[in-house]
Amino acid sequence: MRKIALVTGILGQDGPYLAEYLLSKEYKVYGMVRRYSNPNFGNLDYLGLTNKIEYVEGDMTDESSLYSIIKNIRPDEVYNLAAQSFVGGSWEMAKLTTEINAIGVLYLLNAIKSFCPTAKFYQASTSEMFGLQHDNGFQDEKTPFHPRSPYGISKVYAHWTTVNYRESYGLYTCSGILFNHESPIRGIQFVTRKITDGIAKIKLGFSSKLYLGNLDAKRDWGYAGDYVEAMWLMLQQKTPDDFVVGTGKNHTVREFAQLAFKYAGLDDYKKYVISDARFKRPAEVPALCARADKAEKVLGWTPRVSFEELVKMMVDADLNRYKNKSKIKGDKSKF
Ligand code: NAP
Ligand code: GDD
Repeated sequence: MRKIALVTGILGQDGPYLAEYLLSKEYKVYGMVRRYSNPNFGNLDYLGLTNKIEYVEGDMTDESSLYSIIKNIRPDEVYNLAAQSFVGGSWEMAKLTTEINAIGVLYLLNAIKSFCPTAKFYQASTSEMFGLQHDNGFQDEKTPFHPRSPYGISKVYAHWTTVNYRESYGLYTCSGILFNHESPIRGIQFVTRKITDGIAKIKLGFSSKLYLGNLDAKRDWGYAGDYVEAMWLMLQQKTPDDFVVGTGKNHTVREFAQLAFKYAGLDDYKKYVISDARFKRPAEVPALCARADKAEKVLGWTPRVSFEELVKMMVDADLNRYKNKSKIKGDKSKF
């Protein structure tokens, strides 16, 4: 019998990589999509997966749709990747962010508890929950949370709800506390993709400048394709638990930009990058860096793609995209 997995957030960045991984293990994959007149299957198309997935319509803010989906599919595993995941936008959409990322998880867990309590549940938690750390060191499963945005706060609620449903009802629920992970299909608003997309536009003459916010922020950046394996591994253990997942190395936004511009043959990034207050946040998370020893010890997970390889992969992908596009008029970066 093929195992059945339900993946929410299937159209985002992680959904397609996870679907690809699960399909390689012979799972039947259901992807939850919101009601749209024109859903965007671009990321699934990029990996050649669009026709390999069963789609179900549902919304994290609509309790009844989640109940119906769980009741009808009765999945073996549920991966909750759906979220309003852009930290920068979460101040302007704090209520929506909370409804999707926090209350939505409560709805989904209640649906599992009521209709399919044997399903194993993965919650996409985040290093943003650590937020402000004063020692500039590493974060692991024991590090206290200090979220700095409505997004971070919503994820802390979802994280503790996931833990609580395990402790209260004995459900198999895991929270993966993942540090930043990127790829050629990363959303265009996130800084890494914004940089590599901006570089491709500059390199091919579609644009001349790249406007960024805080260049000194440090993040622990890994490759999304590696991280989805850790999600799956968490649901294959004897007992459910929570895990930090990251590379253990961090870099500034400036370093990412410097390396990416250089790789594209644009030697001095300073000629192109302009620091713009519009892209700074009301409260910043200055530095994050994972200590993922537990994931390595218990799950046997380690990242494969290095920072340098990731930067090159993303620059190459965006250069190829723009080479294949007809010349667009003007600079269309609006984020
Ligand atoms: P993403 O690209 O933003 O994808 C999120 C997906 O959630 C989108 O496909 C979106 O659907 C869907 N979604 C948003 N609101 C929804 C709603 N109300 N109902 C149903 N679906 C909804 O995010 P990602 O980078 O793949 O990240 C996956 C998850 O991991 C997120 O929960 C994120 O917060 C978390 N996370 C990400 C990272 C990272 O570095 N990438 C690190 C830690 C944790 P549409 O396509 O319809 O908009
Ligand atoms: N987006 C963006 N745009 N960020 C910028 C810019 C810019 O122009 N300039 C500087 N930054 C800085 C941000 O202030 C932040 O410190 C850092 O670059 C990374 O920003 P993002 O790429 O937007 O990611 P994030 O770290 O805020 O959030 C991502 O990672 C989290 C895990 O730690 C998202 O994927 C979250 O959903 C995820 O939970």
